[in-house]
Amino acid sequence: MTAEDKLAVLITGAAGGTGRLVFEKLLNHDFYEGNALVHTKESVKKLKDLEIPEGRISVADISKGPSPELDAAMKGIQALIICTSAMPKMVSPPKEGVPPQFAYEEGQYPEQVDWIGQKAQIDAAKKAGANQVVIVSSMGGTDKNNRLNSLPTATSWSTSARQRSTSSSRTSPRTPFCTPAASSTRRAERGSWCLA
Ligand SMILES: NC(=O)c1ccc[n+]([C@@H]2O[C@H](COP(=O)([O-])OP(=O)(O)OC[C@H]3O[C@@H](n4cnc5c(N)ncnc54)[C@H](OP(=O)(O)O)[C@@H]3O)[C@@H](O)[C@H]2O)c1
Repeated sequence: MTAEDKLAVLITGAAGGTGRLVFEKLLNHDFYEGNALVHTKESVKKLKDLEIPEGRISVADISKGPSPELDAAMKGIQALIICTSAMPKMVSPPKEGVPPQFAYEEGQYPEQVDWIGQKAQIDAAKKAGANQVVIVSSMGGTDKNNRLNSLPTATSWSTSARQRSTSSSRTSPRTPFCTPAASSTRRAERGSWCLA
């Protein structure tokens, strides 16, 4: 198989915990050409130990929606794996009898990253001609009592983006965009199948 025959995949959030694992798997893969999208120039440094070929890493802030940087990163890709995520930071450590407190940084709320940002990625992938999207998400988005949803609707925004992904399918309803949750083996397998 030549480099031209490989399926071009963009992994977003590639400097994050999950995204990096996926990117590493696809970086020198026989069948896939892994490309990375990271948040900032600082995020690029988190991948400096990897030997990334020229042109296979790009930078875009997805939280403001569509952007020329996002469009440029999607150019030529055939599949997108979304590993971006809003992540709360601990603002006060646990004290005796008081649990730790978490908060999102300004501009990095789930609505901005997991809804506006994921929607922009799905739309940009579609515009670029990609036909497969895998969203690495969380379970419990539709469960109001889920512990994560005690933070400002943390997982439900991601669920909205998954619905967007499904409704964005350009093909028949029998071949929808894939939206596996990482912790569900069965669904994750379905995601792999979509990339095969
Ligand atoms: N279901 C499961 O069992 C399970 C298990 C693991 C993970 N997950 C899911 O996987 C996803 C990723 O989790 P994770 O643990 O890998 O989180 P993480 O380490 O915090 O990674 C999130 C990534 O998103 C990037 N990002 C955040 N805001 C961005 C923005 N505005 N523009 C561009 N990139 C942005 C971050 O970039 P910087 O850090 O460089 O700013 C980071 O690389 C989450 O949805 C999580 O729920 C699910």
